[in-house]
Amino acid sequence: MTSVKKIAVTGAAGNISYSLLWRIANGDVYGKDTPVELSLLEIPQAVGAAEGVAMELDDSAFPLLRGITITDDANKAFDGANAAFLVGSKPRGKGEERSALLSANGKIFGPQGKAINDHAAEDIRVLVVGNPANTNALICQHAAQDVPADRFTAMMRLDHNRALSQLATKLGKNSDEFQKVVVWGNHSATQFPDITFAEVGGQKVSELVDEKWYVDEFIPRIAKRGAEIIEVRGNSSAASAASAAVDHMHDWINGSDGRWVTAALPSTGAYGIEEGLIFGQPTIAKDGRWEIVEGLELSDFQRERIQRNVDELKEEREAVKDLLN
Ligand code: NAD
Ligand code: LMR
Repeated sequence: MTSVKKIAVTGAAGNISYSLLWRIANGDVYGKDTPVELSLLEIPQAVGAAEGVAMELDDSAFPLLRGITITDDANKAFDGANAAFLVGSKPRGKGEERSALLSANGKIFGPQGKAINDHAAEDIRVLVVGNPANTNALICQHAAQDVPADRFTAMMRLDHNRALSQLATKLGKNSDEFQKVVVWGNHSATQFPDITFAEVGGQKVSELVDEKWYVDEFIPRIAKRGAEIIEVRGNSSAASAASAAVDHMHDWINGSDGRWVTAALPSTGAYGIEEGLIFGQPTIAKDGRWEIVEGLELSDFQRERIQRNVDELKEEREAVKDLLN
């Protein structure tokens, strides 16, 4: 057994957390030999509901779960945290774009970034799930200047998983047979699910599907899947989001076994993406870090789709400039 890891989860009484906390407590993030302590952050009105969630976690008798604390104080919630899932924020409704949430949600992430900066453990890893995730992660990272920027990520693993699943259905394969899939950019309808480099069973995926399907059906289907779920389910995705959050943090800590996975990370300037924007990129997780897959040759089509995302994220950044220190 390794030492106990403290995992902070915000929005602990919400829909995503109702799946996420059980997966974390089961050892699906750090692994089956690492005990965990959960630190739940909620707004004051929802602390009671979070206490109920904690009671149910207790009733699940997870062998790896060594303690649960519940608070409405971010400084306490992130104190000594090794990992933080920033879920707590408002979801969008039918017909809304995620960027419409910026004014309501953006202001949550500065104070939480500051609390992480001042109190978290040295190895803190942050995953922002709350929408609009990329720009919220940027706000959070800016407020935590003493923490290396690459510890702040936003969730695009759900988009990645959606892409794998749609390809698997189309080609009659399993999702784990696909390699080199990436979703570039923003977790918004502008995102670019890219199969240019993708392979399955030693073949290029682009040779197995026609371009019209790729451009007119696949790309918009993935990019608008969140809205489709809201339309059909009546609520935004929750269990699939929790599952993707676990995949993201698990791979960050344990590695992705050489496979490409999509994570939204601060750009290093690779591929002409403006440095610092939190951008979905092809990565391989190794030795506890994300390594951006560099040196890929991009077509004009790819460059144009990536640029649309750069432009959109710059607009979002401009809209929240008052929240960036
Ligand atoms: P929810 O409304 O069910 O739960 C949100 C919880 O957050 C509530 O319990 C609320 O009290 C709490 N909260 C609000 N402000 C908080 C704060 N300042 N500190 C701590 N807690 C706070 O929503 P949900 O379905 O769990 O979704 C949460 C967020 O995740 C939404 O913004 C949603 O759009 C986003 N989301 C992102 C992805 C992604 O792929 N990045 C996927 C699904 C959902
Ligand atoms: C999703 O992609 O399912 C989430 O971001 C929720 C949403 O608003 O679409």
